[in-house]
Amino acid sequence: MKGIILAGGRATRLFPLTKITSKQLLPVYDKPMIFYPIETLVKAGITEILIIIAPDYSGHFLNLLGSGEQFGAKFSYAVQHEPRGLPEAFIIGQDFIGNNNVTMILGDNIFDQDFSQDIKAFKSGGMVFAKKVTDPERFGVVEFDQSMKALSFEEKPLKPKSNYAAVGLYTYDNQVCQIASQLKPSARGELEMVDIHNTYLKKNQLQVKVLDGFWADAGTFDSLLAVSNFMAQKTKSS
Ligand code: TTP
Repeated sequence: MKGIILAGGRATRLFPLTKITSKQLLPVYDKPMIFYPIETLVKAGITEILIIIAPDYSGHFLNLLGSGEQFGAKFSYAVQHEPRGLPEAFIIGQDFIGNNNVTMILGDNIFDQDFSQDIKAFKSGGMVFAKKVTDPERFGVVEFDQSMKALSFEEKPLKPKSNYAAVGLYTYDNQVCQIASQLKPSARGELEMVDIHNTYLKKNQLQVKVLDGFWADAGTFDSLLAVSNFMAQKTKSS
């Protein structure tokens, strides 16, 4: 299993903080944000990791993270020149992924969850996690039937069909590179993860699991503050 951390993007919702550095280098309590997704992958047993970054501040990532040795991991780096959407990671990362399975985590997604059993048990197809939220319209939303079988995914729907958001950690077999390369941009001009989920769902090859542990995306001022407070509490009580 290879790992990808997607840490590019524009981070416009965090202007002016992100006019001087990258979102994923901002502090979450006592660490740069990107340490959390790195630790989530390493804890899950994934140590060969491609870090995809935007051109701006790319040297800062290299200075901070280097070879990955301090995390017990091996890092490679690639640049995404324009934020054309999350699935582009599987196009940029195609050679890195090779014939392997891959888990992608978003660089601004913070978990307090051990994924090692799920990753170990993964064989083929796709595996995504859903979490109940109060603001599903901000995310990719999963529609479930009464037996919690996933029926469809919709990106940032105006009328969400459930309160379950797909969180930013996705495990796929290497069909994902081919699927990503055939996607067309959506109306908002981006390649969309929900199109990948729906492709696997139609083939009956997608597992959708409900996530128990803490998850937040740290992409807004309020969520950045909430995540910092959560991690401060956790650190002090451990
Ligand atoms: P978003 O939060 O959707 O986008 P953003 O970080 O550019 O922020 P904003 O909406 O405030 O402008 O991205 C989620 C994560 O994915 C984040 O870590 C950035 C990353 N990303 C990329 O690396 N490339 C992309 O093409 C996109 C869309 C996001």
